Amino acid sequence: MNSPVLQGLGTGAPAYVKHARLIAWVADMVALCKPAAVVWCDGSQEEYDRLCRQLVDAGTFRKLDEAKRPGSFLAWSDPSDVARVEDRTYICSEKKEDAGPTNNWMAPADMRATLQPLFDGCMAGRTMYVVPFSMGPLGSHIAHIGVELTDSAYVVVNQKLMTRMGKAVYDVLGDDGDFVPCMHTVGAPLAAGQKDTTSWPCNPKVKYIVHYPETREIWSYGSGYGGNALLGKKCLALRIASTMGRDQGWLAEHMLILGVTNPAGKKYHVAAAFPSACGKTNFSMLVPPAGFEGWKVTTIGDDIAWIKPHADGKMYAINPEAGYFGVAPGTNTLTNPNCMASLDKNVIFTNVALTDDGDVWWEGMEKDQGKLPEHLIDWQGKDWTPEIAKATGAKAAHPNARFTVAATNNPALDAQWDDPNGVAIDAFIFGGRRSTTVPLVTEARSWMEGVYMAATMGSETTAAAFGAQGVVRRDPFAMLPFCGYNMSDYFQHWLDMEHKLEEMGHTLPKIFCVNWFRKDEAGKFVWPGYGENMRVLKWMIDRIEGQATGEETLFGVAPAYGELNWTGLAFSAEQFKTVTTIDKAAWIEELKLHTAHFEQLAYHLPQELVETKSALEQRLAELA
Ligand code: OXD
Ligand code: MN
Repeated sequence: MNSPVLQGLGTGAPAYVKHARLIAWVADMVALCKPAAVVWCDGSQEEYDRLCRQLVDAGTFRKLDEAKRPGSFLAWSDPSDVARVEDRTYICSEKKEDAGPTNNWMAPADMRATLQPLFDGCMAGRTMYVVPFSMGPLGSHIAHIGVELTDSAYVVVNQKLMTRMGKAVYDVLGDDGDFVPCMHTVGAPLAAGQKDTTSWPCNPKVKYIVHYPETREIWSYGSGYGGNALLGKKCLALRIASTMGRDQGWLAEHMLILGVTNPAGKKYHVAAAFPSACGKTNFSMLVPPAGFEGWKVTTIGDDIAWIKPHADGKMYAINPEAGYFGVAPGTNTLTNPNCMASLDKNVIFTNVALTDDGDVWWEGMEKDQGKLPEHLIDWQGKDWTPEIAKATGAKAAHPNARFTVAATNNPALDAQWDDPNGVAIDAFIFGGRRSTTVPLVTEARSWMEGVYMAATMGSETTAAAFGAQGVVRRDPFAMLPFCGYNMSDYFQHWLDMEHKLEEMGHTLPKIFCVNWFRKDEAGKFVWPGYGENMRVLKWMIDRIEGQATGEETLFGVAPAYGELNWTGLAFSAEQFKTVTTIDKAAWIEELKLHTAHFEQLAYHLPQELVETKSALEQRLAELA
């Protein structure tokens, strides 16, 4: 074993860690959490392999068939621990108004008093891992460093795939660099001599995902799953980073980043925000369809973008992550062939089903395989057959089952994905999931209008996720669960960005609003989506190049039917109308909902947004 292990209290920091503040913090946390041992992770392959073996021995991991899925593992979580817990997620700023109406809030002193007894001895009988990671290319001026202390080996191996994790981070940190301290425990201490009775220790009753934006700390208790536990992702790269961006003049966004290269070799970069479960990973790995020979789409990131204005007049974006933690169900070679190819080897799967020949399966794979498997073990370890599924509705994979995989597995990975300077953004896209009202694509006529579109975007809820089906849940900028401060101040930050950029002589990226999800009267999706979204992407590029005139509409500039390349797709002008028409009655209702949304966000709501709404109402009233 390479990493130093220390029995009892103390830290045993390796000699290459020169950062006194970090060592002192670890010592304090050891004293608080009282782990049985401390391991300083170095991020090596040897360490990864050793921890995976350990997870197999503990029953948390099952090694998948080496021929079918080399280097890959399957984990099944506790049924109480399957997703992010938004109702247990807190932004603990000093003032409640600074967290805003869309976040849970508790005063920092009260939250510290709540967490102190929970963290006291929380790692008893377990190992504390010290996990250094860089969000963004190591040493990039846009990147930031975090150090996660966790008692979950599952978290360590996931962090190895999801971030630039390991020893090299200490070189960047030096003896006094800044880092975000990230405390994580599964919240299941073991008494002396007690052994785990479960392969997924967690706290089924008590969970807290806590952010202190002023002191830039993260404290997570009770869950071992995804964004609750891999603290670099939503907690650091979005909630804490959004507050850093506000203070330092940059943007931390829930956006994929893709590159698109035309047949002449000219490359553009687009950052796109969609709420969770709206196909972000698919869009970031899009395969251009027939009719787009010579076009290439490449992935820089599938979930998060950090974007900074630069002295050369452009906004540069990096993907702070180094891997994908994507939703497996629904993924197949029709919806996302690049993603399926990424999952061929060296993957950690969580909560998918196990096949009888030691491979994985999830709902949606039958589209590739032409039939359902005859027998599986489902994500809860129970027998699954098509007959059982038909009779009980049982899903083989949990709907939020995930894969964790390094970005380097992606055959469509952009050559600049790890460039410390990032890529220059040409356009922002904002999109929700709406079966009516919002058209396929429009371009904002101004930065202000783009911010309005993003501030009012929303998605229809599914009964399973958020109560009543079909109700529009406003998800401004797709940041509702991820903005680390008051949402209206965040809108203001975006509006201020325009003036800052103009003062610096910047060319502002264009802003587009999209909706892939309009349905016809029979309730069927009209737009084919997936790779066909390339047709819309190409129109955006034509707009950037001044090669498409577009048509003025109530809600921005929209393409005429003839402006999209239809080669290889039978999509009639009539169908196009179904996904693009602006229905006056629907928009009257829509604007009432915008009013209610703005009322909820009234504190610090920028007046310009209210004025933009009034102008929209005026235009709507004038519409025939
Ligand atoms: C995600 C999410 O997992 O947005 O990326 O929920
Ligand atoms: Mn996301």
